[in-house]
Amino acid sequence: MAVACNCRCCLQGVLLWAALWPALSPWTTVALAAAAVPAKLKAAPAPVVAGPVSRVEDARMFQIYYGQSFKVIKNSGDGKSYLLMQNTSKMASKTKYCTGRIKSFVIPLANFSVDTTASPVSFFELLGVLENLKGITSNQVASECVLQSYTSGNTQLVNRTDAQTLSQFSAQFISNIDEDKGCNFAAYVPLEEDTPLQRAEWIKYLGTFTNSEDRANAVYDAIKRNYLCLSKAAANLSTRFKPIVAWIEYTQGMWTFVKESYALQYITDAGAEIVDATITNKRFNSSDSEDMDNFHAILCTVDVVIDQTYALEPAEYKLSTFLENINVSHDSCFSFVSNRSIWRFDKRIGASGTLDWYDGAISQPQLVLGDLIEVFFPTGNYTAIYFRNLAKEHVRTHGAYNPALPMMNPDEHKDFSSLLADSGN
Ligand SMILES: *[C@@H]1O[C@H](CO)[C@@H](O)[C@H](O)[C@H]1NC(C)=O
Ligand SMILES: *[C@@H]1O[C@H](CO)[C@@H](O)[C@H](O)[C@H]1NC(C)=O
Ligand SMILES: *[C@@H]1O[C@H](CO)[C@@H](O)[C@H](O)[C@H]1NC(C)=O
Ligand SMILES: *[C@@H]1O[C@H](CO)[C@@H](O)[C@H](O)[C@H]1NC(C)=O
Ligand SMILES: *[C@@H]1O[C@H](CO)[C@@H](O)[C@H](O)[C@H]1NC(C)=O
Ligand SMILES: *[C@@H]1O[C@H](CO)[C@@H](O)[C@H](O)[C@H]1NC(C)=O
Ligand SMILES: *[C@@H]1O[C@H](CO)[C@@H](O)[C@H](O)[C@H]1NC(C)=O
Ligand SMILES: *[C@@H]1O[C@H](CO)[C@@H](O)[C@H](O)[C@H]1NC(C)=O
Repeated sequence: MAVACNCRCCLQGVLLWAALWPALSPWTTVALAAAAVPAKLKAAPAPVVAGPVSRVEDARMFQIYYGQSFKVIKNSGDGKSYLLMQNTSKMASKTKYCTGRIKSFVIPLANFSVDTTASPVSFFELLGVLENLKGITSNQVASECVLQSYTSGNTQLVNRTDAQTLSQFSAQFISNIDEDKGCNFAAYVPLEEDTPLQRAEWIKYLGTFTNSEDRANAVYDAIKRNYLCLSKAAANLSTRFKPIVAWIEYTQGMWTFVKESYALQYITDAGAEIVDATITNKRFNSSDSEDMDNFHAILCTVDVVIDQTYALEPAEYKLSTFLENINVSHDSCFSFVSNRSIWRFDKRIGASGTLDWYDGAISQPQLVLGDLIEVFFPTGNYTAIYFRNLAKEHVRTHGAYNPALPMMNPDEHKDFSSLLADSGN
């Protein structure tokens, strides 16, 4: 293989922060958590369930129930229940549901496809089930490993509107629930959750389809522990006055403050504070000087700007682009300009030009949190994975992963816990 994938993605975040806060020792914490999982499961009493189980801890949008040879997932995203029957059960050969409220699947899925135009595929990578990913609806994916699977012919490109072709897969996973076009369509909606951890816990939902509960639990435990550990450390770094952050976006001539709750949660968890919502509940017209005066007045109170304005060519979006859009000059006295703290989440880009922010960052929020802590409390000792500082533009490799950045490889990811253990030294 030409591209060597390195799966120590989440581990880099953990490792670096471990170096910064040795007292926290997240390494040992994480490794213990992963190792503890099977023992905990064995100790669990009834019900009599054949295999490992996942329990939802944080996510709001789904629930999992276990029977002896089946599972039921209730998905509040599409209001459906998914009956998953073990392929060894009698039920599997006799039962088929496909109604507005219930669908059945035989598991473990022999194969599946994913609507990669709208759904993160990194969850499947973390689960280590890319071998069975046989179809994708777009090859504009950030994941190098999925692209490899496509190039090698293991995964085919399929037409996302062609229900006939899609019906050949044991399941077609979609995130856009309006595009349910068949009995084999299964919705997963991590983006409808409120917090970064809730979004990441959808790995458990997907894990039930492939009987990968052990793996899903271990991955989520490691991510959650690391995330909470970073968040604790960040809380300790905060002084009485936290850095104030404006997370903003420019669309169709109007500036707005981003309101998505997951974004606000990231800011809080990284020890900073978002500009008061009561004064940001407004759109600012960039050609209206009164609006811009009001906008500038708010920005004057801000230490850090995160600009999530869409750019067709991320590399072409420069400091000058931003300053032009907000009608501010280089020598302005805004503290985020003089202190050079203007960030975008477009640093990690796949070979196809797709931002990994919309994929890998969803399944591994601890990496984003690590970045944000460095953004708010700079040490200069940590290389951000997702965030790029427009005001201190480094040379970027466009159109390809920066080889220094970590990548995930399902083959190397088979045993998450041993990986955690052997990276600890
Ligand atoms: C059930 O699935 C497993 C794993 O894919 C496979 O090895 C086995 O042959 C299947 N059994 C039946 C009865 O289909
Ligand atoms: C995809 O499938 C739809 C419906 O079968 C068809 O109308 C359309 O032309 C196909 N698109 C491509 C690019 O093949
Ligand atoms: C997926 O698996 C099913 C069941 O084994 C099989 O009938 C089907 O041909 C497979 N589809 C693809 C696209 O490999
Ligand atoms: C927070 O700071 C206190 C005092 O400096 C220290 O004892 C504690 O271990 C720190 N906790 C974390 C999570 O960093
Ligand atoms: C923005 O302001 C300009 C000039 O006042 C006006 O022509 C334009 O319609 C406004 N745009 C919006 C979206 O309101
Ligand atoms: C942009 O800034 C210039 C120079 O400060 C000012 O003259 C102009 O009115 C501003 N435009 C808007 C729409 O605020
Ligand atoms: C600029 O950043 C430094 C260190 O990051 C901080 O101490 C200082 O308060 C900041 N200044 C302003 C005006 O925000
Ligand atoms: C930067 O990282 C190195 C190696 O991890 C460590 O030895 C050093 O103390 C760190 N420096 C700061 C300022 O945190």
